[in-house]
Amino acid sequence: MPRFALSLAFVAIAAAGIFAQDPPMSTYPATPLANKHFSYPSGIPYQADTDTNLIRGAQSGYNLCNSTTEGQDSLCQTSFLNHLDDFCLWAPPEPNSTIADTEGEEVAWCTKPGRGTRVIPPGALQGVQYMRTPDYIQVVGFIDQTKVNIADGDYGGELDPHGADLRGNPLGGLLFSNAFNASNSDNNTFTQAIEWTNFMGGGSFCLKVCDPAGAHAADYCQHIFDRIGCAYNAPNNAQNGTFEVCLGDNQDFPGVYTSSGTVMTYTQPPESLGAITTMPYTPVVPASSSCTTFASADLYSSAASVFSSIVTTTATSTASGSAKTGSGSGSGSLPSATRSSSSADVSGVANGASMGASSMLMGSGAGAGAVIGLMGLLFSMTFLA
Ligand SMILES: *[C@@H]1O[C@H](CO)[C@@H](O)[C@H](O)[C@H]1NC(C)=O
Ligand SMILES: *[C@@H]1O[C@H](CO)[C@@H](O)[C@H](O)[C@H]1NC(C)=O
Ligand SMILES: *[C@@H]1O[C@H](CO)[C@@H](O)[C@H](O)[C@H]1NC(C)=O
Ligand SMILES: *[C@@H]1O[C@H](CO)[C@@H](O)[C@H](O)[C@H]1NC(C)=O
Ligand SMILES: *[C@@H]1O[C@H](CO)[C@@H](O)[C@H](O)[C@H]1NC(C)=O
Repeated sequence: MPRFALSLAFVAIAAAGIFAQDPPMSTYPATPLANKHFSYPSGIPYQADTDTNLIRGAQSGYNLCNSTTEGQDSLCQTSFLNHLDDFCLWAPPEPNSTIADTEGEEVAWCTKPGRGTRVIPPGALQGVQYMRTPDYIQVVGFIDQTKVNIADGDYGGELDPHGADLRGNPLGGLLFSNAFNASNSDNNTFTQAIEWTNFMGGGSFCLKVCDPAGAHAADYCQHIFDRIGCAYNAPNNAQNGTFEVCLGDNQDFPGVYTSSGTVMTYTQPPESLGAITTMPYTPVVPASSSCTTFASADLYSSAASVFSSIVTTTATSTASGSAKTGSGSGSGSLPSATRSSSSADVSGVANGASMGASSMLMGSGAGAGAVIGLMGLLFSMTFLA
C-alpha cells in the first residue's frame, strides 16, 4: 500500500474512533459564574451559562426576562434584592420539590411583578426583616414554602453563585441590587452582586447579598457553611409575623468566632461523618437600629393584585384577598425521610431564621444525608475522586 493510502486509512480509523462516541464530559465551565459580569438591564444575555458538554447539563432557564416571560411559569433566573418590598427568592420551578433535588434549576420568585419573573403568592411571606449594613444587605423571614413549590417539611439547602462545579446553584443564576452605595439611591441603577447566599427551607429563608465594593464581600457572604443554616450564616432576630426594615452593624464572617479571646474558624464536617449535632459556638447577632415596621398588605399589594386578577379572569374564586393571611406549612418537627441532601454545595439543613441553635441542629439531625439524590451522589463521586 502506498504510504499515502496508509495514512489516509489511519486518519479514517482515527476519526471514526473519535466521532463514534461523545467527547468526555467536563465538570467545570471555562469561566466560573462568579467571574462573569453583566450590567442590568442592557447587558443581560439570554443565558449566563453557555458551556456545553458539562456534567450538570445546560442552564434550565434564562436570564433575559421581560413581559413575555413574566408569570407563574417563568423560568427567569435573574434575581434581585432591593428592599423589603422588592426582592426575590430562589425556589423550584415545579410544585412539591425539595431544594436539594432542584438546586441547579431554581427560578426567581419576586415580591412584585415587572421583571419577567414569578411572583411570590400573597400570604406566603409570614414575616420578613430587611437589614442593611455597611457591607451587605439581607432579608430573613418566614414563608409558607409550599406556595413557592418547596415540599412541605423540606429543610432545604443553600444556593449561591459558586457550587461545587463553579456554575452556581441555580446554574447561571444572576442577582442584582439597587441598594448599594454605588446606586446613590437611584432605584434604576443596579449593581451585580458577585457574592451572595440564599438558604431556603424549614419554613424560613435568608438571603444575604454582599456589596462588591466592600473589601470582604466573599468573607461576609462565605458560602461553604452550607449545612448550618441561617442562624450561623445570617445571624438575626427576625420575628415571625413582623415585617421590618432595619439598619445594622456587620455580622462576623460566617464560621469565624471568638472563644476565650481567640479568633477561631469553624470547620464544617463532611456529610459522610453524619449529622452535625453539636456546634462549638453560638453566633452573635449584631446590633441593629432604626427598625421600622410595616403591614404586609402595604408591602406586597402589587403581588396580591396579580393574583386577584388571575383569579378574576379564571373566575374560579374571589378569595385571594389579603396578603396578611399565612397558611401554616406545618414546618415544625418532621420525619427524616422528607429531608434530602446532596453534596453539590447544598445539603439538608434546617434554616432556622431566628431559631435557636439547638432546635436548628435537631432539625438538620437524622435526615441529613439520609436521602441523596442521584445528582448529589454523582457529585460526591466526582468531587471525592
Ligand atoms: C424577552 O425574553 C425572551 C426570553 O429570554 C427573549 O427570547 C426575548 O428576546 C426578549 N425580548 C426582548 C425584546 O428583549
Ligand atoms: C409531595 O411529594 C411526596 C413525595 O413524592 C408525596 O408523598 C406527597 O403526597 C406530595 N404532596 C403533594 C401536596 O403533592
Ligand atoms: C425606591 O425604592 C424604595 C424601596 O422600594 C422606595 O421606598 C422608593 O419610593 C423608591 N424611589 C422612587 C423614586 O421610586
Ligand atoms: C457604604 O456607605 C456607608 C456610609 O457612608 C459606609 O459606611 C459603607 O462602608 C459603604 N459600603 C461600602 C461597601 O463601601
Ligand atoms: C410563622 O407563623 C405562621 C403563622 O402563624 C405559622 O403558620 C408558621 O408555622 C410560622 N413559621 C415558623 C417557621 O415557625
